[in-house]
Amino acid sequence: MEKNPLRALPDRRLHRIAGPCGIVLFGITGDLAKRKILPALYDLANRGLLPPSFSIVGIARRHIDVEQLFTESISKGAQTPVNPTTLNQLLSGLHLVVGAYDSDQLYTDISDTLKELDETRGTGGNFAFYLSIPPGLFPVVTRGLGIAGLNKTNGNNWRRVVIEKPFGHNLESAKELDGYLTGVFPEHSIFRIDHYLGKETVQNIMALRFANEFYEPLWNSNHIDHVQITMAEDIGIGSRAGYYDGIGATRDVIQNHLLQLLALTAMEEPISFTADELRAEKEKVLRATHLYGPVEKASVRAHYSAGCQGGQYVKGYKDEDGIPQDSITDTYGAIALTINTRRWSGVPFYLRAGKRLGRRVSEIAIAFKKPPFLPFEDAADLGQNTLVIRVQPNEGITFKFGSKVPGSEMRLRDVTMDFAYGHAFTDYTPEAYERLILDVLLGEPPLFPQSTELEESWRIIDEVENYWDSSPETLETYEPGTWGPKGADDMLAQHGHAWRRP
Ligand code: BG6
Repeated sequence: MEKNPLRALPDRRLHRIAGPCGIVLFGITGDLAKRKILPALYDLANRGLLPPSFSIVGIARRHIDVEQLFTESISKGAQTPVNPTTLNQLLSGLHLVVGAYDSDQLYTDISDTLKELDETRGTGGNFAFYLSIPPGLFPVVTRGLGIAGLNKTNGNNWRRVVIEKPFGHNLESAKELDGYLTGVFPEHSIFRIDHYLGKETVQNIMALRFANEFYEPLWNSNHIDHVQITMAEDIGIGSRAGYYDGIGATRDVIQNHLLQLLALTAMEEPISFTADELRAEKEKVLRATHLYGPVEKASVRAHYSAGCQGGQYVKGYKDEDGIPQDSITDTYGAIALTINTRRWSGVPFYLRAGKRLGRRVSEIAIAFKKPPFLPFEDAADLGQNTLVIRVQPNEGITFKFGSKVPGSEMRLRDVTMDFAYGHAFTDYTPEAYERLILDVLLGEPPLFPQSTELEESWRIIDEVENYWDSSPETLETYEPGTWGPKGADDMLAQHGHAWRRP
């Protein structure tokens, strides 16, 4: 009988459900685990996407009530309603292993726990080791996993390692870190999480560009004037001084989230969306990315001063708990980049990220060139056509264009066309961590950057950070609730541009 070629295609009506497996969570008491990872696991289970045998092994340095920690983090962070059946099922597979990360005993205990889970819950030897711990601990933990043979498979099962950013502190340390990881796990088993890639709106950049005829012919330096990529937060650093100081906004989010957004916005169309093809296109565009002009004119950093935000007094960065008075860490970073390719030559890409800014918004704004000639007398109010991909909040896409103001005269004004996810779709939108953790458990890597992309990102950021290190006077301050320091406005003004005030 002739084979039906459609049979070879996956049935898209079926949910992607993970097979028998478990997760070993290093740093279960940490902020990220409690706020994002555990609630995401619960939501996945609640949506029926995890196997009934799914097991969670938390690793902590001291004893804690892990059931209480889990239940509290679910009630605060889960998106789906609390369902006692799901909760009990997960609690029955929840274990805690306590020990120092540098003691061999810890890894022996983990190994024993995993064997027991295989026997009692049928996890099949399939485990993801999630390192939600400070990067300084990655080498010691990967070494421990390797020595205990926890990285080994028997051919029928899998072992994967998931690491959280920052992937190093600069290019050199990123390579060193990668050396530790690849010395223990094969590259295809390493999943580097950049949670922005798990956001629906970020994946939609590819749909917008490559599923439509309208945009791509205009997506180049003939029509695009410049691009602004913004990640603004209205919160301060909160209780994260230990993580944040010495890292700063540029390493924390520009090196990864914003440069990944740039790559997706600027890359060529991949042949397919498999990991190899997609990553190759992102890497290619990052390799062609450079500062737009000399570093002193293409970079700005600052941290927030004390002041008033939303009617409330807020502390300055240096007064936050745990921050030294002489800290020169940036809570705001902005860089101007350009991409040396035929498509993008001469088009500036401005990237900025900061805490305690005017409001929380992440977006990509594509500003088009003005028409070469405007046959209207009253067109003074007309701006540039701008396509804004709103990553969050109010996820959607907006297009700004010129329109006639109703009336007897030919007066023009900018108006917007809006697409909002909330209006167009009623489907459940998974949190970024849900999507990415499920991909880890299914062994699907396209949404995880590979080390070469990250190294290219470090190459770009290192030039800026090295300059800042040698020029402490470059550090500016900005008032909370504003849109950043004056230097950032000057950086764009030199090219005749201005930041959007979203
Ligand atoms: C993290 C950064 O990657 O992203 C944090 O380390 C930041 O500093 C967070 O607050 C913001 O994520 P989101 O998804 O709320 O934009």
